[in-house]
Amino acid sequence: ISSPDLARRLLAWYDRHRRRLPWRAEPGELADPYRVWLSEIMLQQTTVATVGPYFQRFTSRWPSVKALAAADLDEVLTEWAGLGYYARARNLHRCAGVVAMEHGGRFPDTETGLKTLPGVGDYTAAAVAAIAFGRPATILDGNVERVIARLRLVTDPLPGAKPKLKALAAQITPTERAGDYAQAIMDLGATVCTPRKPKCLTCPWSDACAARVEGVAEDLPAKTPK
Ligand code: ADE
Repeated sequence: ISSPDLARRLLAWYDRHRRRLPWRAEPGELADPYRVWLSEIMLQQTTVATVGPYFQRFTSRWPSVKALAAADLDEVLTEWAGLGYYARARNLHRCAGVVAMEHGGRFPDTETGLKTLPGVGDYTAAAVAAIAFGRPATILDGNVERVIARLRLVTDPLPGAKPKLKALAAQITPTERAGDYAQAIMDLGATVCTPRKPKCLTCPWSDACAARVEGVAEDLPAKTPK
């Protein structure tokens, strides 16, 4: 099954089954970079369910990156209370300042440009580039690692397998609807290709999935023992 067919199928699945999350745009539309960046920072080490109300409060109080940049750090830290990892909140405020002061309040629109911002690493840069700017960037979070390891039967353990998984993921990433595709593969991992008891019967990639054919989906990805 060709990469374009895999991408088409996943996008068709996303149109029907996507999660409605507060920071998302409608399919085919690009989301506000500020909202995408804020949600991705909040979602690092925190679940979608926990982040929801925090995201709503932050964006009501500070609707733009310029508004957040102008806020007192203490107030940002107070709103952040409960999300943990306060270094993330400090970086968040610092990054808002850099975007406001050095970029005129507009986020850079490439992965490389985004990576120059405080607290924005490979993952966040790729997510914002894809979801807010439609760039065909390859995101690799835990969900995507699992989906790709199973689809392509990558049995080498994490974290060593990451470069191979990223290259395999990149082969499937489409140039059209790149933002929807990025969110679709995350949703597939979160709701169908789950760590335990994956729901292969409802998966749009099940007939292409090498791990399912071998009966080893639940065993992947392998991890180096601690
Ligand atoms: N986890 C991290 N980023 C996400 C996103 N954009 N959508 C859903 N889950 C996520």
